[in-house]
Amino acid sequence: MAKPRHSANRQSPIPNRQPDTLTTLRPKPATVVALYPGSFDPITNGHLDLIQRGSALFDRLIVAVLCNDEKRPLFGLEERIVMMREVTRDLPNVEFGSFGGLLVDYAAECGASVILRGIRAVSDYEYELQMALMNRRLRPEIETVFLMAGEAHSFISSRLVKEVIRLGGNIGGLVPPSIEGRLKRRLLEETEPE
Ligand code: PNS
Repeated sequence: MAKPRHSANRQSPIPNRQPDTLTTLRPKPATVVALYPGSFDPITNGHLDLIQRGSALFDRLIVAVLCNDEKRPLFGLEERIVMMREVTRDLPNVEFGSFGGLLVDYAAECGASVILRGIRAVSDYEYELQMALMNRRLRPEIETVFLMAGEAHSFISSRLVKEVIRLGGNIGGLVPPSIEGRLKRRLLEETEPE
């Protein structure tokens, strides 16, 4: 007698999918809007590199500045946006905004289906993974995309740039020249007696 081709209790080769994985993916929108969030206090050449890459990949890129005075930023929110506009004038699909609540809610408000983040080194990975998974849990339809800035920018952070300039070090090549000028002026203001 010929063997039956399928036995009734044979396991399906396709395991059950988790409800929060592929089933939540949406078809690609006609216009892909990406949101690049951060403090940008101030914008560095690493941020600028990522904005240029994002602008080349997505139809629209919205750079979203976190509005959080608890971090005691060196530059005000509007000032940070003005500085970023200055150095991205050649990128017509880059826009700017600010947000104060949940990042994913702001992304949804903007019609963004992608959150863009930069990874510089392995040390960034754990924090970024946590944020990306939390954001996915909150709004599974929004994907986080990680890009690496050019290796020449992989060690730059706004925090270190501010520390170096405060201590009299050279920050040439770490921030755009116009930002370097503004940083120097701001730190002079900080040290001038009232
Ligand atoms: O440049 P930064 O400071 O690393 O940016 C951090 C930022 C703004 C991406 C992060 O603090 C953020 O998303 N804040 C919004 C609050 C939020 O949505 N939290 C829950 C998800 S982790």
